[in-house]
Amino acid sequence: MAERAGAAPAGTGEPAGEPAGAQAAAPVGTGEPAAAPAGTGEPAAAPAGTGEPAGGPAGAARGGDRPERILLVGMMGAGKTTVGRALADRLGWRFLDSDDQVVAATGRTVREIFESGGEHAFRKLESQALEMAVAAGPRTVIAVAGGAVLRDANRALLRRSGTVVWLRAPAGTLARRVTAGDHRPLLDDDPPRALAALAQAREPLYRELADLTVDAGDATPGELVERILAEVGR
Ligand code: S3P
Repeated sequence: MAERAGAAPAGTGEPAGEPAGAQAAAPVGTGEPAAAPAGTGEPAAAPAGTGEPAGGPAGAARGGDRPERILLVGMMGAGKTTVGRALADRLGWRFLDSDDQVVAATGRTVREIFESGGEHAFRKLESQALEMAVAAGPRTVIAVAGGAVLRDANRALLRRSGTVVWLRAPAGTLARRVTAGDHRPLLDDDPPRALAALAQAREPLYRELADLTVDAGDATPGELVERILAEVGR
């Protein structure tokens, strides 16, 4: 599962000078400060040397003694919600989805939040939602929305809250599978292009964060659940 490190953005998800209400006029390049494409975080120094093994080989989940929680990360269309729900069912654990938490907390759709406050407003709410999801307690599977890894604080929270599983799929596969829908305004214009750009910027973050990387491109949700369970030793 280990791969080349690549040019690794250590995206902060903390844009300075966020253009409020910026619309997704292009598949990338909105909602974030100049120089940083929407949803990509800000390219900066490589995260190498963070002291965290990158990804780790299959079976080497480094969950260790962290709480009984599985946090699914990955791009839009990777199957986090479907797999997460099935995984939680199988374990008899609670299932939470960070986008659903945002909607429940605000009474607004993801699209409405993007439209009124831009991506930056959404990211703030997303961080709060993630904290709430973790605060729900252990024995929880959390589907973590694709862009949550952009913020340092979110990544730190994920890292200490349980076993992080990256559902990895090639951008081409994601583009075939993904549905734009009300909660994915970043994909309004040209989904394949947007996904490719976002994936390029984010994959180093997923890789850096993941205790376990599961290739999600070629498997059914049921197969992925079994793979994850086998790897995390449950
Ligand atoms: C986003 C992913 C979406 C949603 C929002 C932004 C992203 O969630 O939070 O559209 O930046 O990757 P899913 O990953 O659940 O689709």
